[in-house]
Amino acid sequence: CGIVGYVGLKDSKDILLQGLKKLEYRGYDSAGIAVQNSDGVHVFKEKGRIAILEKAVDESVHGTLGIGHTRWATHGEPNKENAHPHQSVSRRFTLVHNGVIENDDKLKSDYLKDVELRSETDTEAVVQLVEKFVNEGEEVEAAFRKTLSLLHGSYAFAMLDSEDPDTIYVAKNKSPLLVGVGDGFNVVASDTMAMIHVTNQFVELMDEEMIIVKREGYTIETLDGQEVNRAPYTAELDASDIEKGTYPNYMLKEIDEQPAVIRKIVMAYEDDKGQVSIDEDIRGAIAASDRLYIVAAGTSYHAGLVGKQLLENLSGVPTEVHIASEFSYNMPLLSKNPLFIFISQSGETADSRAVLVHVKKLGFRTLTITNVAGSTLSREADHTLLLHAGPEIAVASTKAYTAQVAVLSILAADIANGKGMELDFDLTKELGIVANAMAALVDQKEVLENIAREYLADTRNAFYIGRAVDYFVCLESALKLKEISYIQAEGFAGGELKHGTIALIEKGTPVFALATQAHVNGSIRSNVKEVVARGANACIISLEGLNEEGDSLVLPEVHDALTPLVSVVPMQLIAYYAALQRGCDVDKPRNLAKSVTVE
Ligand code: G6P
Repeated sequence: CGIVGYVGLKDSKDILLQGLKKLEYRGYDSAGIAVQNSDGVHVFKEKGRIAILEKAVDESVHGTLGIGHTRWATHGEPNKENAHPHQSVSRRFTLVHNGVIENDDKLKSDYLKDVELRSETDTEAVVQLVEKFVNEGEEVEAAFRKTLSLLHGSYAFAMLDSEDPDTIYVAKNKSPLLVGVGDGFNVVASDTMAMIHVTNQFVELMDEEMIIVKREGYTIETLDGQEVNRAPYTAELDASDIEKGTYPNYMLKEIDEQPAVIRKIVMAYEDDKGQVSIDEDIRGAIAASDRLYIVAAGTSYHAGLVGKQLLENLSGVPTEVHIASEFSYNMPLLSKNPLFIFISQSGETADSRAVLVHVKKLGFRTLTITNVAGSTLSREADHTLLLHAGPEIAVASTKAYTAQVAVLSILAADIANGKGMELDFDLTKELGIVANAMAALVDQKEVLENIAREYLADTRNAFYIGRAVDYFVCLESALKLKEISYIQAEGFAGGELKHGTIALIEKGTPVFALATQAHVNGSIRSNVKEVVARGANACIISLEGLNEEGDSLVLPEVHDALTPLVSVVPMQLIAYYAALQRGCDVDKPRNLAKSVTVE
C-alpha cells in the first residue's frame, strides 16, 4: 500500500490524488482520501484504481489538510468498506495505514468490545483505540503514542483529528515513510516519487518514530518521547523520469530503456582506468567472507540465480541464493564468515528486510543491490551497490532485472580481479556489446508481437525450457508471462521436464526453448524434440553461432557469461504482447503490487 498526506495553504485534493497515482505501483485494489476543512473531515473512497476515486471526489470540497491511501489488500477483501481512510466511531479521527498489525484481534477483544467496527481491517482497531484513549481523558498525542505502544507489526500511519486544523499525526515502524519539507507546507509519503511534484527535500524516518507534521514544521520523537533532530536530504529524482512520455505504458518504455541502462551502469562503475569496478570496502568485505548468501524475492530472486552463476564461475566464490520469505523461517546452515547480498529493485520488500534485520543481529556483513538510493534496505545494510536503472514503474520488472544481472557481473569480475584471477574477456567492452544487442532486439517488436500471436493467442498454459543459465532466464520468462497475461506458465530445466511435467504437453502446447549455451546446445535441442514428439508447438530462441534452421529468433552474439542480459529481452516483449493481445493492463496486473511492504 502507499500513503500520502499534505498540510499547507493550497487545496490538498489534487496534491493527494497526484501523489497516489505515483504510488499506485504499491497496490491498486482500492483507494481513498480524506480532506479536512472548517466543516470537518470529508472522506472519499472507492474500490479499484485512483482514476475511479478521482471521479468520486466532490470537486466542491476544499481543504488544506488531507491524507490518502492506495491499497493492496491484506486483511479483508478489496471493497469500499475496507478501503482507507478509516474513521473512529465519532468520526473525529481519520487514519490511513500501510503495513500489518499482527495483534489486531487481541486489541479488538481487549479494548474494543463495545465498539461497533465498520470494516474487517486491522487498521480500524488503531483509529478506534486512539479515540477510546482520548475519550478516557488523554491528550491526542498521548493517546496516539499509547496506541502505538500496544501494536505488534508493521505500520506507516497518517492520522487527522477533526478538532485540529493544523496537524497530521504520523508514525512509522518497518513500513517505509518519509516527510517532505516545503515552504509553508509539509507532506508525508511512502516514497519520494509521490511528492516530487511539490518538493525535493525529504526527511528519513526510522522505525518506532512518531512525527507531528504541521504547516510550519515537524517534530520527530521516538516512541518513548525522545526528540530526534534529522536534517532533510535532497531527493535526486527527475520528475520527467517518472513520466511515460509518448509510450502507451511504462512496461514498454522500461523494456526499451534497457540498452541505455546498461550503458549508464558501465559509466557509473567505470574507474579511472576505464574498467568497471566496485568500491574497495565492498571488495574487502567480500574477500573477508567465505561464502555469499543472496537473498531476494520475485524477479530479483531470479537475477540472484544468474548472479550465483556469475559469481561462482568468474570469481570462484561459493554462493547460495535464497528466497527471502523462506530464509527467516527455514535458515540454511551458515558458513563461518558469510556475507549477505540483498537484491531488491525497490529496496523495500518486507520479506527481504526481515532477513536483513535478522542477520544483522547475528553480526554478519550485508550488501544491498538496489535501484533506490536511500531505500530501507540500502540504509540498513553495511554497503550498497546501485542499479542506476531510473525509476521502474510498471509492476512487472524488466530493466531492473537486467540492471541487477549487469551489476552482479561487475561485482563478480571485480572480485576475480581482486583475487588476481585473469578473466579471459574485457567486461567493460562486453557490456557495451550487450547494450547494442539489446538495442537490436527491442527493434524487433513486430517479430516478437507475431511470435506472441502465433504461440500464445489461445493457450491456457506455456512452458519455457533451458539448460544451465538459460534455465534461470526461463524462470524469469515464465514469471513475466504469468504476471501480466495470466497465462499459466512454468520455467523448467530442459532435462527435468521429462521427469513429470511432460505429462502436461498436449497438441499445440507452446514451449519456448532458449539455446544460448554451447555446452548444452545439443541436449536442449534433444529436449525440444521430446516435446515436439508429444505435440508441442516449440519456439526456439538461440544465440548467433548456435542457431539452427527453423529457430524462431536468433540473438546477436554476446559473451556466453552475459547471455541472460539479451535472452530475457525477447521474452519480456513476447509476454508484453501476449498480455496486450488479451486486453490485459500490462502496467498494473491484477492482484499484484510492485513493492510488497508486508511479510
Ligand atoms: C513484488 C513484485 C515483483 C518483485 C518482487 C521483489 O512481488 O511484484 O515484481 O520482483 O516484489 O521486489 P524487489 O523490489 O525487492 O525487487
